Amino acid sequence: MTERETPSVDGLVIGILGGTGDQGRGLARRFALAGHPVIIGSRSHERAHAAALEIGHDVRGLANRDAAVEASVVIAAVPWEGHGDLLSGLATELAGKIVVDCVNPLGFDQRGAYALPVAEGSAAEQAAALLPGSRVVAAFHHVSAVLLLDPEVDTIDLDVLVLGDDRQATDLVQALAARIPGVRGIYAGRLRNCGQIEALTANLVSINRRYKAHAGLRITDI
Ligand SMILES: NC(=O)c1ccc[n+]([C@@H]2O[C@H](COP(=O)([O-])OP(=O)(O)OC[C@H]3O[C@@H](n4cnc5c(N)ncnc54)[C@H](OP(=O)(O)O)[C@@H]3O)[C@@H](O)[C@H]2O)c1
Repeated sequence: MTERETPSVDGLVIGILGGTGDQGRGLARRFALAGHPVIIGSRSHERAHAAALEIGHDVRGLANRDAAVEASVVIAAVPWEGHGDLLSGLATELAGKIVVDCVNPLGFDQRGAYALPVAEGSAAEQAAALLPGSRVVAAFHHVSAVLLLDPEVDTIDLDVLVLGDDRQATDLVQALAARIPGVRGIYAGRLRNCGQIEALTANLVSINRRYKAHAGLRITDI
């Protein structure tokens, strides 16, 4: 395989839909620390503004729609239950952009976490179906929001698996993942193979509960 040049992600404006949650605020914090302009999106401008103020580092808070318009790369970090409706309502705003999906369709009961069936195969494939004008990439499914948010944690020991059908877009998201100290972005296949990546999060939740950890994955021999 020929070595490909790592694309520059310097100065890339990152928007996060549902950025007021743990995962969104965690990613916002890490990308802002890496020097990126970051916009937190929310259904409520006030909640977005409050979350942005709390994070600091010049993070801005806007309504989801405005975050989608202003950012060049948009991360969807909403619960599975709201994923389809939110994205279908923003198809126009997200056209032409890279949309990074980190959504894990999981259920929880007294026995723990389990993967929910998804008609399209995965949340990321649902996003691709709803956003025909966007370049959908799947990533950040296994990174712990607790670690992202912890000011005592400088380095996160983790590979981020990046999936997608557009090679330039997956290259860029791999480079973006690597902006978080300790993290490597590893290409892990096309979107049709994203279902098991999302479902694997249920296993990580079980590991975390048993070992009281924030477990991540490392891919060997790369
Ligand atoms: N937490 C983690 O460690 C982690 C790790 C990897 C991946 N993920 C994935 O990242 C996503 C977000 O996780 P989270 O823990 O941050 O979730 P969360 O706190 O439950 O939700 C994130 C934000 O989504 C918005 N939201 C909630 N319900 C919505 C709906 N029906 N429609 C539109 N927006 C809605 C809310 O923001 P507003 O009310 O301000 O709009 C909320 O603050 C999930 O899909 C999860 O599977 C999480």
